[in-house]
Amino acid sequence: MHQVADYLDHQNFGPIIADRIWNAWWKDAGLHLSDITHHLTEMVDDRSLPTALVAHDESGYLGSAFLIDCDLEERQQYKPWVAAVWVEESKRKRGVGKSLVEAAAKTAADLGYRVSYICCHQELEAFYTAFGWSVLERDVGPHKLSVLSFEA
Ligand SMILES: CC(C)(COP(=O)(O)OP(=O)(O)OC[C@H]1O[C@@H](n2cnc3c(N)ncnc32)[C@H](O)[C@@H]1OP(=O)(O)O)[C@@H](O)C(=O)NCCC(=O)NCCS
Repeated sequence: MHQVADYLDHQNFGPIIADRIWNAWWKDAGLHLSDITHHLTEMVDDRSLPTALVAHDESGYLGSAFLIDCDLEERQQYKPWVAAVWVEESKRKRGVGKSLVEAAAKTAADLGYRVSYICCHQELEAFYTAFGWSVLERDVGPHKLSVLSFEA
């Protein structure tokens, strides 16, 4: 049975989150591991955004997700964005990803944002639409991403 919690209370998972996010996305974008480490410090400062959520169980880290101001340069009018949703490969397909995304959208709603946004490759749309997200647009930007929204 997994739990989703505020990263603020689980900062011991910082190095593993940084490693996973860097390897999955930031490395190929030419960013350094230290850039994520810095980003994680922003998740625990006084500002409400950005923030991060961690899924864990008795075995430790299962996955994480961010809630940030903007994840897509071409769509700065939307805020906030659920981003960097990651579940450990051996822990997938048991509801952890869904829990993380739902918790991030709830965090957004608690902060007063009725609508949350996410961008993904078209093949992942079904993961989000299965629990209430709607496709707003497709083929946005150079990576041809889909933009989805969730209304709390
Ligand atoms: C995408 C990801 C977060 C899903 O995490 P997960 O813990 O496996 O997801 P869940 O178990 O909560 O899945 C919920 C449902 O979505 C489905 N699903 C999971 N991955 C899917 C995918 N790639 N495409 C379509 N449906 C998917 C599951 O089958 C499940 O359906 P069910 O309840 O009918 O069985 C995970 O595969 C991952 O970390 N991938 C690598 C990073 C990534 O691509 N992140 C998303 C960036 S936009």
